[in-house]
Amino acid sequence: MSEKPVVIALDGPAAAGKGTLGRRLAAHFGYAYLDSGLLYRAVGWRMLTDGLDPADSDAAAAVAAALTEEDLNSKELREDRVANAATIVAAHPAVRQALVGYQRRFAAAPPRDAPGAVIDGRDIGTVICPEARCKIFVDAHVDVRARRRLKELQDRGVESIYSRVLRDMEERDARDRNRPIAPLAPADDAFQLDTTELDADAAFDLAVDFITARNKPDKS
Ligand code: DC
Repeated sequence: MSEKPVVIALDGPAAAGKGTLGRRLAAHFGYAYLDSGLLYRAVGWRMLTDGLDPADSDAAAAVAAALTEEDLNSKELREDRVANAATIVAAHPAVRQALVGYQRRFAAAPPRDAPGAVIDGRDIGTVICPEARCKIFVDAHVDVRARRRLKELQDRGVESIYSRVLRDMEERDARDRNRPIAPLAPADDAFQLDTTELDADAAFDLAVDFITARNKPDKS
């Protein structure tokens, strides 16, 4: 019988470095990678595209239940208006419930028979996969995260100003951290990786050391 896939749960606020780290870890260990934020973004995007109010929990739950792979590939998912709608739909319990199954199936049976899965999000270590062997909570000071996001936007040719990016990030953080269901928070057994003063290589090295130590056969 094949072994249960290893799950690496990567949680943290926006622009803390989860995406870059998650993709590198998945490539390094040969695991499949899921950016769970895309699920919430896809729900938010469909709501906006269909002229629905993201605050309408019944409509959002229906959209979440009917999501398709095609929705996850929309080029518009990275837009800030979509990120904003995503934080609103993500606070509806029925939306979260509709998306649990997809994420747990990914963890239990990663695509292409990969021996493990890296899933990045907000509640992977606390709600989706509380039994995950490796949990990492990636964080950084909000000023640093806002500067990273500003650079990312400018690199994509999107005109932006720092104060606006910072304000948006603080608003989104507050919504993710303060919602009553599955709020953004580190699991008790998560390794806390603060990337405020780390570059991507240093964060990657620390994460690999942690995962390797957790996966030693003598650890239960
Ligand atoms: O990671 P991201 O910025 O793409 O996520 C977009 C929004 O989706 C984020 O503000 C909160 C929500 N989200 C969530 O509630 N739970 C997750 N596991 C992933 C994302």
